[in-house]
Amino acid sequence: MLAIIGGSGLTQLANLSVIRREVVRTPYGEPSGALTFGQLCAQPVVFLARHGYGHTIPPHRVNYQANLWALREARVSEIISVASVGGIRSDLCPGSLVVPDQIIDYTWGRKSTFHENSDEPVVHIDFTEPYDEGVRRRILAAGVTAGQPIVDGAVYAATQGPRLETAAEINRLERDGADLVGMTGMPEAALARELGIPYAAINVVANFAAGRASSEHEICFDSIDAVLREAMGRVRNVLDHLCEA
Ligand code: HPA
Repeated sequence: MLAIIGGSGLTQLANLSVIRREVVRTPYGEPSGALTFGQLCAQPVVFLARHGYGHTIPPHRVNYQANLWALREARVSEIISVASVGGIRSDLCPGSLVVPDQIIDYTWGRKSTFHENSDEPVVHIDFTEPYDEGVRRRILAAGVTAGQPIVDGAVYAATQGPRLETAAEINRLERDGADLVGMTGMPEAALARELGIPYAAINVVANFAAGRASSEHEICFDSIDAVLREAMGRVRNVLDHLCEA
């Protein structure tokens, strides 16, 4: 069964015919909300709103461990993360859909492993390729059948938030090789890898990153809402095609 973790702008899936909601408790605490089980184009799907269904949990307070553990308990076979980002690379303008292929993690103080008890052996996962290539390919193929252009490959920088970055921070991220910036990609991807669940992301560019193009002097929140509303419609369309395939 496919799991979809929805971020800002995607707190529910319009085409999901809901079968049941389940509150899951985990050894790591409570997930962001109940898991919503349903069907998308006749395929079983489970949906979780990363920031809670009322969008009340900021990126650094999301219980990523509990979210991932709950999806594991639900025996999901793969996870697609949907998350909004700022565009650093000049061609990644507001409204672009991107399937990233690399991550740089700038977050701090988040619980980023399931193996932190002093009485168990240290676990190092391989994270050379942080996203599952099979899931990436399925998203990209669904974009083709849906007729929705999706950019294949980008370096995602995960920042701590909840504030947006300074222009100088974005310049630094670009020098580091980052193309996109968001606040929730980590440790989510690493925890999925620890659990052995194939994971990939669809990033929706909500705004030019700080200091870039129309965000040269400030980031306009009103236009972010409008961009996300339109672009998430395209994401839903891609997800429908992915489930139909
Ligand atoms: N920075 C970080 N996260 C974001 C941004 C941004 O500019 N836009 C949407 N999520």
